[in-house]
Amino acid sequence: MCIVGARPNFMKIAPIMAALRSEQCHLDAFLLHTGQHYDKSMKHCFFDQLGIPVPDMDLEVGSGSHAVQTAEIMQRFEPVLDEVKPAMVLVVGDVNSTIACALVATKKGIPVVHVEAGLRSYDRDMPEEVNRVLTDQISDMHFLTEKSAHENLLREGIDDSRIHFVGNVMIDTLKNNLSKAVTPEQILSEIPNKAVFLNSKTGYGVLTLHRPSNVDNPEVLARLLETLNEISKTLPLVFPIHPRTAQKIMESGCEKYLDTDRIIQLAPLAYHEMLGLNSKARLVLTDSGGIQEETTALGVPCITLRENTERPITVDEGTNTIVGTDPVKIRAAFDNVMQTGGKAGKVPELWDGKAAVRIVEVMEKWLTDNQRH
Ligand code: UD1
Repeated sequence: MCIVGARPNFMKIAPIMAALRSEQCHLDAFLLHTGQHYDKSMKHCFFDQLGIPVPDMDLEVGSGSHAVQTAEIMQRFEPVLDEVKPAMVLVVGDVNSTIACALVATKKGIPVVHVEAGLRSYDRDMPEEVNRVLTDQISDMHFLTEKSAHENLLREGIDDSRIHFVGNVMIDTLKNNLSKAVTPEQILSEIPNKAVFLNSKTGYGVLTLHRPSNVDNPEVLARLLETLNEISKTLPLVFPIHPRTAQKIMESGCEKYLDTDRIIQLAPLAYHEMLGLNSKARLVLTDSGGIQEETTALGVPCITLRENTERPITVDEGTNTIVGTDPVKIRAAFDNVMQTGGKAGKVPELWDGKAAVRIVEVMEKWLTDNQRH
């Protein structure tokens, strides 16, 4: 049984479902959506574009505080396990749906598989960090995107035999979809001053923001948006806005920083649109985890508006620079990219589009071996 819940899960589950339902695989796959994300722009378009099968079940939990959302998923998930009786539960990433379903499954004695295990920001203020640490502790099989995660897991007492370095399923999806990416010209076709953004000499930057640490505190949000407004005077910015960010901008009266025709505000974009926009950008400014990896795979410079990253390979080998929220540091990193073109970077080991196939092979072997004993 594969679990999805929130936007960043969808691009991870797509290649896994495809590998599970391919002719080479002998396992049955059941797809369960918790319903953590439910808006059309946060959900449906990803299923359509990425060819994810319609979920066999949707728990429709929706939004809530962390406790309410996690508890609601757990309560609704338990009877499903009793009914479907899966041999394994596979969770991806670090969202509330990940820990909620892993916890219910493990207490029922059902083996848990964690894809994207072992990543650590060492920042427990991030809800995702708590989800990652706890999910790894109760998982039976850990699939890694980068080798640094191996040391993290060993340090936390996870047995080496459970750890498998297989590569990055999000990059499987990126590679499978590059040829379907929508061009910036098409994405911005309705924008009156699109010529400013489509000028091949100056180019454009992409901005995404949604982490609670950046958008929930009005002072931090204002400081960030003021800096980004300054930056847009040099490089125009395209800003697809996550629903929680849109709400926080309104509540904190920060709209004034976006009141410029050098920042285009868009609703959240579907996968092919975002991929097309990012792949042609001069740089990307973001607090997303996934985008740090996607920009590294694309070779596009990324400036991360966080104090840390759980994906250090994007900094050590990729195009990522961590700058935090200090205006002086953001500006310096931005100027550096504009002057030098940014870090060249290389694509990390096993980010080759075949991670999901490796995962399914290991799972199939594990199930065969364990059934035999
Ligand atoms: C969640 C994940 C985060 C991930 C992000 C990507 C957790 C703890 N966080 O954060 O790791 O990077 O998804 O998007 O699981 N909302 C809508 N429509 C939706 C979904 C949410 O309007 O379809 C709004 C609601 O106001 C909601 C808020 O966004 O309260 C937050 O949603 P939630 O699922 O709690 O967390 P995200 O911020 O989306």
